Amino acid sequence: MFPASKWYIPGIVDADYLVLGSGLAGLYFALRASAHGRVIVVSKRELTDNNTQHAQGGVAGVLGANDTAEQHIEDTLRVGDGLCAREAVEICVRQGPEHILYLANQIGVAFDRDKNGEFNLGREGGHNMRRIAHVHDMTGAAIHNALLETVRGYGDSITLLPNHMAVDLLTTAKYGGPNAVFGAYVFDQATGEVKTITARAVIIATGGAGRVYFYTSNPDVATGDGVAMAYRVGARVANMEFFQFHPTILYHPAAKSFLISEALRGEGGVLRLRDGSAFMGRYHEMKDLASRDVVARAIDAELKRTGDAHVVLDMTHLPGDFLVERFPNIHRRCMELGIDMRTTPIPVVPAAHYSCGGVMVDGNGRTSVRNLYAIGEASMTGLHGACRLASNSLLEALVYAARAAEDVRSASVNRPLQVAPWYAGDATVTDEAVVVSHTWDEIRRLMWNYVGIVRSDKRLERAARRMQMIREEIREYYWNFQVNGDLLELRNIALVADLIIESARRRPESRGLHFNLDHPAHEQRLAKDTVLSRGDGPAV
Ligand code: SIN
Repeated sequence: MFPASKWYIPGIVDADYLVLGSGLAGLYFALRASAHGRVIVVSKRELTDNNTQHAQGGVAGVLGANDTAEQHIEDTLRVGDGLCAREAVEICVRQGPEHILYLANQIGVAFDRDKNGEFNLGREGGHNMRRIAHVHDMTGAAIHNALLETVRGYGDSITLLPNHMAVDLLTTAKYGGPNAVFGAYVFDQATGEVKTITARAVIIATGGAGRVYFYTSNPDVATGDGVAMAYRVGARVANMEFFQFHPTILYHPAAKSFLISEALRGEGGVLRLRDGSAFMGRYHEMKDLASRDVVARAIDAELKRTGDAHVVLDMTHLPGDFLVERFPNIHRRCMELGIDMRTTPIPVVPAAHYSCGGVMVDGNGRTSVRNLYAIGEASMTGLHGACRLASNSLLEALVYAARAAEDVRSASVNRPLQVAPWYAGDATVTDEAVVVSHTWDEIRRLMWNYVGIVRSDKRLERAARRMQMIREEIREYYWNFQVNGDLLELRNIALVADLIIESARRRPESRGLHFNLDHPAHEQRLAKDTVLSRGDGPAV
């Protein structure tokens, strides 16, 4: 139907691959795919504004002498609580180490080593083995900075576009063809112009959606944009009810979203109530190293029982020099706030951290819509099941980015000859930005209160009702006013919130990260993914 050769349409930027998002998955894809095509990477803020930069713990991989792939697989499946796709787990666990070594040997990531030059491996919740490769407590930033430097050197084959935010995907369905993606409308945050970028394939690497909750470890950019965009063009989205709450975010009025890595508990940190008593023994045999769903729920229960605002993570029994050397970033930040972890337990609370659900993909990152891929946190590969094993996320981002970069070679050109430019119609500039910020706030509080760590049928029903009204208002606002970054994010986050609520309502049981007071046990018939697609889930 459409010509197979490359062509140029005036006013339209064209590439082979358009990557939405500049975190680990997006950059690693760009690096690998640039071997066979021209890549454009768009990032809605600075290229370093992403979740990867905040990942402290590290990347899980079978790198130690006593570890085996079978043990890593077993830990992942156990924590995933019956919902992991074994194939995805095998792919990540078996192929992960080669990518970690590639980062170390080809990209120059300086992972911590012991005196013999072997990886100095950390341990985190749910792992029965030390298998976390890390760069002190700044692993994500170390990997991302090294990759960014490498990618910047790729000249014409990789174009980096910071401060550009995708508005919507372009699909041939609108032009009378079979449904395939061929680009995106992209909003230039600096000029306000909406550009048209076409490509043989679009890769969603937009990261997580933690900002949907009032308390989160995620930076401001984590608004689920890719999931929302993919859903709007008909892609299947799955398991959105499984939102992971990290047990230990720093509790301090001046600390915004600062993570206290699980690696601290991996090195012997103990969670205590404010009266000094340890409590994890009452909840799980692995105590402080139980999986995150268990630890976050235990803290939530203790806070509700005691009425305290936070619990503490006690590191004071460990050697001070070791703490400063192993966790320099956390030590620095805590000291800035007057907390010396060598002598004072760190105040912590749980907060939204990671979306285990996302755009459903196959073993090569392909979504259910042709020429649309999803990788990293925005995707649902099947690796995490109902609860992600700590530090399996950077692993998944690497493995699936590389697999998608290989598979995408076969994406065939499928573009209409004429592409309609962005049309703003009669939209005017809003003079009431407060509507956007107020609605943002409303959604985030509602999600925290009704769709948080512990849910109930009534809370979910209430959340669904309120979201319906909020989304109607947003739709009206969206069509009447000219787009800007905040409005685009609001539109996306509202849809993502709705997808989470709808998925949670379709799971009347408790499993992994989804805990419903009215259905506290597993239901065998529900041991399957919750899959939503347009027409079947919430209205777009
Ligand atoms: C952490 O350092 O605790 C976060 C690691 C992860 O989310 O996997």
